[in-house]
Amino acid sequence: MSDAPSDGDPGSAEARSRIWGGRFDGRPDEFVQSYTASISTDLLLYRHDIDGSRAHARMLAAQGIIPAADAEALIGALGQVETEIQEGQLELRNDLEDIHGHVEARLAEIVGADVAGRLHTARSRNDQVVLDTRMFARDAIVQAVGAVRGLQIALLTLADANADVVMPGYTHLQRAQPVLFAHALLAYFEMLDRDAGRFADAFERTDVMPLGSAALAGAAYPLDREAVARELGFTEISRNSIDAVADRDFILEFQAAAAICMVHISRLCEDLVLWSSAEFGFLRFADQYATGSSIMPQKRNPDVAELARGKTGRVVGHLTALLTMLKGLPLAYNRDLQEDKPGFFDTVETLIGTLVALRGALLTAECDGARARRAVESDPFILATDYADYLTRKGLPFRAAHQVIGGLVRACEARGAGLSDLDLAELQAASPLFEADAVGMTVEQALAARDVPGGTAPRRVAQALAEARKRIDVADRGEAGG
Ligand code: ARG
Repeated sequence: MSDAPSDGDPGSAEARSRIWGGRFDGRPDEFVQSYTASISTDLLLYRHDIDGSRAHARMLAAQGIIPAADAEALIGALGQVETEIQEGQLELRNDLEDIHGHVEARLAEIVGADVAGRLHTARSRNDQVVLDTRMFARDAIVQAVGAVRGLQIALLTLADANADVVMPGYTHLQRAQPVLFAHALLAYFEMLDRDAGRFADAFERTDVMPLGSAALAGAAYPLDREAVARELGFTEISRNSIDAVADRDFILEFQAAAAICMVHISRLCEDLVLWSSAEFGFLRFADQYATGSSIMPQKRNPDVAELARGKTGRVVGHLTALLTMLKGLPLAYNRDLQEDKPGFFDTVETLIGTLVALRGALLTAECDGARARRAVESDPFILATDYADYLTRKGLPFRAAHQVIGGLVRACEARGAGLSDLDLAELQAASPLFEADAVGMTVEQALAARDVPGGTAPRRVAQALAEARKRIDVADRGEAGG
C-alpha cells in the first residue's frame, strides 16, 4: 500500500504532510478536520505569524541554534509566502488546520522540508498563536483608540457648530431642566474618553512577548527572548511559560473595553434615535445616513444609530462567550482556546465599523436649535427648580422651598398656566420672599446659574469644549492610539 510507513520513516506519507503527522497512521475524518480547523478565521493573523517567524529564525541563527544559511533561506521564503497570501494565492486546506500549518507547509514547498523543518525549533504553536494574537491585539488597540478619538472629534464638531442651542435635559425621560445641547454631547465625549483610556491601559498588558514558552514548559535551547521582543517591538517578555500559553486576559481586556464602549455608543444612539424622531425633532440625519421604508414613502429612519445599538449585543455577547470559555480551563494550552479568535476578530471589526459609521452620521447631522428651544419653552415647569433655588437664596431651607414651588405647580396645572406666567402678586401669595426679579424667569437665567465646574452654564460649557479639544490634541500626540 502506497501510504504504508516505510522503515525508519514515521507515519504514512499522507500523515506526514500534517505538522503532527509522525505519530499517526490513520487519516483523520474529513468532517473532524473541518470541525477542528481554524484557518478560515486565523488567516487574518498571517502577517503577524510571518513577522514572528522571521524574528524567531533570525534569533535561532544568531544563537547558533540553526545554520545562518537556513535562517536566510527561511526569511526569504517567508517574504514570498507573505506576498502569496496577500495576493490571495494560498490554497486553504482544512488538513493544514491553521495559519501556522499553512505557512509551514508552503515554506517546505519553497525551501524544502529540511530547512523549513528547522523553523519550529524551540517553538510550539501554543506560544506562536499567542504571539500572533498579541501582535494583532496591539494593532487593534491602536485602531480602536484612533476610531474612538474620531467619534469624540465628531461630537466636539457638532457641539461647536451648535454652541448656543438649548434643549430640555431629561431624567426618567421626563423633561427636567434646560441644558445646552453641547453639554449633552460632551457627556458622551467623557464616556468615550474613559473608553480610550481603557484601551490604552489594556495595551500595556498586551505588549508582552510570549515566544520561548514553547508548548508550556519553556524551550530547551539557549534562546535570546529579549532580542525577539526587541525586533517585534514588545516592551516586555512573559515571565512564566505556563501562564504565557494559557493566558487570554489581553483579549478579555480588549473585549471588556469594547463592550463598555459599545454600551456607551448604544446609549448615544438611543438618544440620537429619540432626538431624530418627530416627537423630539432636535436632530436630522443627512440623506447618506438615513434610510427609507419600502412601504411608507414618508419615512426617514435612523438605521445607522439603530444598528449600532443592535450590534452592541454582539460585542457584549463575545465578552460573555470568552469569559465562559475560559472559566473551566486547566493549565496550560487547551484547544478550547482556539475559540478565542472568532469573537475577538468580530469585536474589532464591529467596534471600529460602528465608531466610523457614527462619526460620519454625527458630522453630517443637523441640529434643529429652534425645535429644541421650543421644547424647553413650551414646558410650563422646566424652571421649577430655579424658582425653588430663588427662595433658597432668600434664606428658605431648600426642602421648604421645594414644598412652596410644588404647591405653585399644582395650582398652575389646575388653570393651565406656567410658572413664568405668574405675576408678582401670585408669586407672593405663595411666598412673601418673592420679589420683582422672580417674575418671568428665563431659560438663559437658569442656564447661567449653573456656573459650577462641570455645569451647563454657557461659559462653563465653552471652557469644557476648549479643554476637551486640548485633551484630544494631547492624546493624539501621546498615547498608544498615536
Ligand atoms: N489553531 C490553534 C489556536 O488557535 C493554534 C494552536 C494549536 N496548538 C495545538 N497544540 N493544537 O489555538
